[in-house]
Amino acid sequence: MTFTRIAGTGGYLPEKVMTNDDLAKIMDTTDEWIRERTGIKRRHVAADAETSSDMGLAAARNAMEMAGTDIADIDLIIVATTTPDKVFPSTACIIQRRLDIHNCPAFDVQAACAGFVYALDTADRYIRTGGAQTALVIGTETFSRIINWQDRTTAVLFGDGAGAVVLEAADKPGLISTHIHADGKYEELLQVPQGISSGYDVVRKERAYIQMNGNAVFRKAVATLSSMARETLSANNVDKHDIDWLVPHQANLRIIAAAAKKLDLSMDKVIVTVDEHANTSSASIPLAFDVAVRDGRIQRGDLLLFEAFGAGFTWGSVLLRY
Ligand code: UT7
Repeated sequence: MTFTRIAGTGGYLPEKVMTNDDLAKIMDTTDEWIRERTGIKRRHVAADAETSSDMGLAAARNAMEMAGTDIADIDLIIVATTTPDKVFPSTACIIQRRLDIHNCPAFDVQAACAGFVYALDTADRYIRTGGAQTALVIGTETFSRIINWQDRTTAVLFGDGAGAVVLEAADKPGLISTHIHADGKYEELLQVPQGISSGYDVVRKERAYIQMNGNAVFRKAVATLSSMARETLSANNVDKHDIDWLVPHQANLRIIAAAAKKLDLSMDKVIVTVDEHANTSSASIPLAFDVAVRDGRIQRGDLLLFEAFGAGFTWGSVLLRY
C-alpha cells in the first residue's frame, strides 16, 4: 500500500510588521483589546508589489530545500488560496512557471481558512492512488488586500504569509487520515460579498472586503473544532492523550485554547503563532507547522493533529505521524 509522508516544510512572512499599536494609530482600537480578545500582538503585511505567488514560491523553495527535493521530481502542485494573484491562471500555475516545472497538474483550492487541509486531503488522495509521487502543497494569502482598514472588527484579525510542504509517496503513514467538510448555509456569516460573476463593482468598494459576524463565527468555530477532533480520533481509534502536538488554524487564541481544552492538551502541546502572525487563513497551519519543525518542538515520529475552520463554512482535520 502507498501512503503519504511529509518530506519537508517551509514558510515565508513579508518583511513589514504591523503591531497592534500601529493599528491603533489608524483606527479606534487598542493593543489591550486586541490581545485580550484574540491573542494577536502583530501581523506581517505584504509589500505593495508582493503577491500570493511571490510568498508561496518562497515557502515552496524552503520546503523543497528541507526535503532535498529535485525540481524534476515534483509531479503535482496544489495551492490553497483565497487571494490569488489573478482571476486566472491559477496561482498554482504561476508558481509552477516560476519554478520552471512543466506538464504536471497544478491547480488552486479555495476553501478559505480550511484551504490547506482541503489541499492536503486532495494531494493525499493523488499520492495514495498513484496519481503523484512528490507533491508541493502550498497555502498562501495576501489578506491585507481584502481588509477594510476602516473596519476595526475585522482589520485587526488578519495577516499575510505563506507555508508549504513537500509530500512524498511512502510505504507507511505519514498522513493517517483526513476529514473535510462544508456547509454553505453559513455563507453570510463570513464573506467577501463581491466576486467576478456577481459583478465586480469598483464604486461599491466596501463589498470587496471581508465582512464577518464575529460572535457567530466564534461560537461555531469552537463547537466544530471539538466535534472534528472527536471524529478524527474515533475514526482512527486513537486516544486524545496520544496526540503529541495540536497544530490548529490560527484565528483566535481563545478558540485555540478551547480546542486544546476539549482534547485535554496543555497549551505547551499546542503550536501557537496567532500572536506573531494573526490569521493568515490557508497559510496559518503550514506556517505554524514550519515554525515548530524548525525550532525543534515537532520531531520525526510525533503524532500531530491539524484542525481548520473557515468561511463557507468549511472545516477539516488531518491526523498524521510526522
Ligand atoms: O478564520 C476563520 C474564522 N474567523 C474567526 O474564527 C474569528 C471568530 N471571531 C472572533 O475571533 C471574535 O468574535 C472577535 C475577535 C472577532 C471579536 O471578539 P468578541 O469577544 O466576540 O467581541 P464582540 O464582537 O462581541 O465585540 C465586543 C465589543 C463591541 O463593542 P460593544 O458593542 O460591546 O460596545 C465591539 O464594537 O468590542 C468592540 N470591538 C472592538 N473594540 C476595540 C470590536 N472590534 C474592536 C477592536 N477594538 N478592534
